[in-house]
Amino acid sequence: MRRLRSLMAMVLLGAVFLVLVLSNWQIDTAEARFADQEPLSPGSSRLDPPGKPVWRPKTLALAPTQAPTPALAKLAAASKHPVLNVTVSDDFRKFFPHNTAYWSRLLHVFLRQHDRSHTVTPPADWNECEEANLEVLKTNVHDFDTYPDLHKNFLRMCHCRNPPLLREPKNCTSEGSGPFLLLAIKSAPSNFQRRQAVRETWGTEGVYLGGLSVRTIFLLGSSSNVDPDLSPLLEYEARRHQDVLQWDFHESLFNLTLKFDAFFKWTWRNCRDASFVFSGDDDVFVNTPAILEYLRALAPEPASRLYVGQVISPASPIRDAKSKYYIPPSYYEGGYPPYAGGGGFLFSGALLGRLAELSSLIPLFPIDDVYVGMCIHALGVAPEKHPGFQTFDVAESNRENMCVHKELMVIHRRTPREVKRLWKGIHSPSLTC
Ligand SMILES: *[C@@H]1O[C@H](CO)[C@@H](O)[C@H](O)[C@H]1NC(C)=O
Ligand SMILES: *[C@@H]1O[C@H](CO)[C@@H](O)[C@H](O)[C@H]1NC(C)=O
Ligand SMILES: *[C@@H]1O[C@H](CO)[C@@H](O)[C@H](O)[C@H]1NC(C)=O
Repeated sequence: MRRLRSLMAMVLLGAVFLVLVLSNWQIDTAEARFADQEPLSPGSSRLDPPGKPVWRPKTLALAPTQAPTPALAKLAAASKHPVLNVTVSDDFRKFFPHNTAYWSRLLHVFLRQHDRSHTVTPPADWNECEEANLEVLKTNVHDFDTYPDLHKNFLRMCHCRNPPLLREPKNCTSEGSGPFLLLAIKSAPSNFQRRQAVRETWGTEGVYLGGLSVRTIFLLGSSSNVDPDLSPLLEYEARRHQDVLQWDFHESLFNLTLKFDAFFKWTWRNCRDASFVFSGDDDVFVNTPAILEYLRALAPEPASRLYVGQVISPASPIRDAKSKYYIPPSYYEGGYPPYAGGGGFLFSGALLGRLAELSSLIPLFPIDDVYVGMCIHALGVAPEKHPGFQTFDVAESNRENMCVHKELMVIHRRTPREVKRLWKGIHSPSLTC
């Protein structure tokens, strides 16, 4: 009797094992199409300078970062992507064990590839990329048919990376060195007024506090063809201000992640000498001088691993299908790693190369700030809380209080007119706090 029972248990275990192996195999073959893409041939556009090591700020002694080995330099020369020998942190691996949700299975396909070769063949490039086959999606996501249209669309497109560039800002370096602070502001094509308010206030480019240079760029997707054609206006704006970085993908909430992925890669190629990067929305108020003061006072080691903002932790997916941040359980299981709210946060420029690399490894996730948190987590860097980042706004009673604003760094969400009033207010010589 006992024998029979243990025999049955073994048969059962065997069956479970087979199912697991088979389901893995299925996803492996489904993903093989993009995971095993040949690297692009040399001579394709926008090549990475091969063999260029990770940048170290001159004034900061950084924790050692890995320079590309000759093998990697060769790979970098053959591909458009930054190729560094990046290790994925143990914390990240512990946080994202293999589970049955689709995102996790995609992640582990990449992790296995990464662990075999210490590099990753990136997902399909825009031009070569086809929408994911519906049958494949339905095989891998049992309730795909119940997903909202936005999510279906996201899953069909989420393997397409490197969207075509439409407009680029002027050269990022000035006098041979990168900016101390790069302000990278997510905007949408039609937000002309918000961008102008930022330019006239907290995003003013220039040299502050005796030598700290600030550069501002706006990150844009493109408007869809049902919208009015804004391209002549954008063309004018981009030429006049030379601060527009625009890609040819549809501007939408779920494409913000794609925007970050493209931004990391562009910045690694074109602005890798930036000491610090601020990422934020075009409708926040940022106290740039306070941020510069804060950054200037940092010790070198924390500066090289900086990721600071309003930390959201513990955080878990919203399961209410009516919410705009809804995440279906069959797509993602478990909580989110701690992350900085996307309204405005800072990170170290020393992370850029590895971020650009890892964002190719980590499957796109529909919520952009969660995705950035995941990528930085994979580097082994934890977000740091700072009370100066109020991405959910200050108390109503303090909305007009200039002294409160003068102390803060990022405040969600202000109209262009309020941004101008606040900027003037905190700089008023008659303000005594
Ligand atoms: C990357 O680093 C690992 C471990 O340090 C090493 O085994 C591997 O060969 C390296 N890969 C390349 C392509 O240089
Ligand atoms: C940008 O500036 C750097 C250094 O000043 C220079 O080497 C490079 O050619 C410039 N690139 C462009 C596109 O102007
Ligand atoms: C993202 O952009 C692509 C290209 O424009 C588009 O096909 C896709 O529908 C967009 N995705 C979402 C979720 O809006």
